Amino acid sequence: MRITMVGTGYVGLVSGACFADFGHQVTCVDKSTEKIAALQRGEIPIFEPDLDRLVETNARAGRLTFSTELAEPVSNSDAIFIAVGTPSRRGDGHADLNYVYAAAREIAGSLKGFTVVITKSTVPVGTGDEVERLIRETDASADVAVASNPEFLREGAAIRDFKHPDRIVAGTDDERARKVISEIYRPLYLNQAPVMFTSRRTAELIKYAANAFLATKITFINEIADLSEKVGANVQEVARGIGLDNRIGSKFLHAGPGFGGSCFPKDTRALIKTAQDFEAPIRIVEAVQAVNDNRKRAMARKVAAVFGGNLRGKTIGILGLTFKPNTDDMRESPSIPLITALQDLGATIKAYDPEGMKQARSELSDVTYCDGPYSCAEGADAIVIVTEWEQFRALDLPRLKREMACPVIVDLRNIYRPEEVAAHGFRYESVGRASQNATGV
Ligand SMILES: NC(=O)c1ccc[n+]([C@@H]2O[C@H](COP(=O)([O-])OP(=O)(O)OC[C@H]3O[C@@H](n4cnc5c(N)ncnc54)[C@H](O)[C@@H]3O)[C@@H](O)[C@H]2O)c1
Repeated sequence: MRITMVGTGYVGLVSGACFADFGHQVTCVDKSTEKIAALQRGEIPIFEPDLDRLVETNARAGRLTFSTELAEPVSNSDAIFIAVGTPSRRGDGHADLNYVYAAAREIAGSLKGFTVVITKSTVPVGTGDEVERLIRETDASADVAVASNPEFLREGAAIRDFKHPDRIVAGTDDERARKVISEIYRPLYLNQAPVMFTSRRTAELIKYAANAFLATKITFINEIADLSEKVGANVQEVARGIGLDNRIGSKFLHAGPGFGGSCFPKDTRALIKTAQDFEAPIRIVEAVQAVNDNRKRAMARKVAAVFGGNLRGKTIGILGLTFKPNTDDMRESPSIPLITALQDLGATIKAYDPEGMKQARSELSDVTYCDGPYSCAEGADAIVIVTEWEQFRALDLPRLKREMACPVIVDLRNIYRPEEVAAHGFRYESVGRASQNATGV
C-alpha cells in the first residue's frame, strides 16, 4: 500500500515508521521544515525508545521518506492518515480541530483515484463528517472514503504498542475503505490483533471513552491513596488487592501525583465538552478532571508539610520532569504545576530529567537544571521523585544522603520500599503509605 502520513509527531512518525516496517511505501509529511530537515538528515526530533533504528532501517530500504510537500504523495496514495495535533482550544477545553481541518482541505486539493482518508488524530464525534464535507466542498468529484482509526499507542512504549495492539479500531461503513484498512494492518492481524470495524462516530467515541476510563482509574486510586494515608492503610496493597480481581485488573492503579501528558488532560476536557453539548454530561469524568487538577498543588503542600508548611529558604531537588518515563514529552506534565506551586511556597528548585530538560526549559523558569540525580541532590533540603525513570529506582541512597542538606525524600511514584529508605536515615514520604522518619527531626 502507498501511504501518506500527514503530521510527523509522536504518533505520525511512529505509525509511519511501523507501516513502512510492515512493507508499505510511506511518506511522512509535516509543516515543520526543521522537523523534516532533521529526519532527512537521519536525526529523530523526539525521544522514543528504538525509533531511531526503525526509522533508519526503513529509510535506508527506501520505504520511508519525508517531505514538507503534501500534494505529490497524496496524489499517489491509497490511504492518507491525518495525525496532526488536536490540543485543547484555548478558553473552553474543546478539541482544537483547526489543524485537522487545514490538513483535510490541503489533502482535498490533490486527491487522485480512489483514496481512503483516515483520521488517526484523536477527534470528537462528528469530526469525520466535517472532514468529508470539507473534502467534497473542495473537490466535489473526489473518489474518497473518510474513516476513523484512533491510535492507542503510549509514548515510551510506542513501537511495541503499535506492533502489538490490544485491538485496532476502524470506523467506516465503506466496503472499499474496509478492504484498504484491512490490507494496511494485515501484518498485525496475522499476529491476532483483532480489527474491530465500527461506524465512524463509534470509532471516534471509543478513543475518548478509553482515555477517560483510564484517567478515571488513575484518579480513583489517587483518592483511595489519600484515604489510605488518613486511615493507616497501604494503597499499594489495596491496589493489588483489587487489581487481582479480573473484573478490575491491575493496570492504571498506581497512585501518584495525578495524570498529565499530551492526551489524558486534553481528551477528558474534550469529552466533557462534547457530552455537555449533546446534553448528556458525563459527571464522573467532570469529577475526575476537577480532582486531578487540584492534585498537583496538593502534592506541593505534601512536600511543604515536611517543613511545617513553608518552603522559604528551602532547596528542593526534582527527579523527573516528563509526564512519564521514556519520553521527552513535557506537555501538561504534573511536574509543571507542582514546581510552580513549590516556587509559590518559597522553594528554590533544582531539577534533573534524563530526556525532558530541553522541553522543560521552555515551560519552567527559575529552575537550575542538573546533569544527574546526585548533583540535583547537592545541598537540597528534599528530593521529590516525580517521574519513575528506571535510573531513579536504584539510587545510591548513602551517596544521595551525603549530598543533601537534609535527608528527606518525597516519592510521588512509590518506587521505594519505605523501610528500606528509612534504614538509610531518611525521612521518607510517599503516596498512600505511612510516612517513615529516621532522621529524629
Ligand atoms: N502522543 C500520544 O501518545 C498520542 C497517542 C494516541 C493518540 N494521539 C493523538 O494523535 C494526534 C497527534 O498527536 P502527537 O502527539 O503526535 O502530536 P505532535 O504535536 O507531536 O505532532 C503533530 C504534528 O503535526 C504537524 N502538523 C500540523 N498541521 C499540519 C499540516 N496541516 N500538515 C502537516 N503537518 C502538520 C505538526 O507540525 C506536528 O509535527 C493527537 O490528536 C493526539 O491526541 C497521541
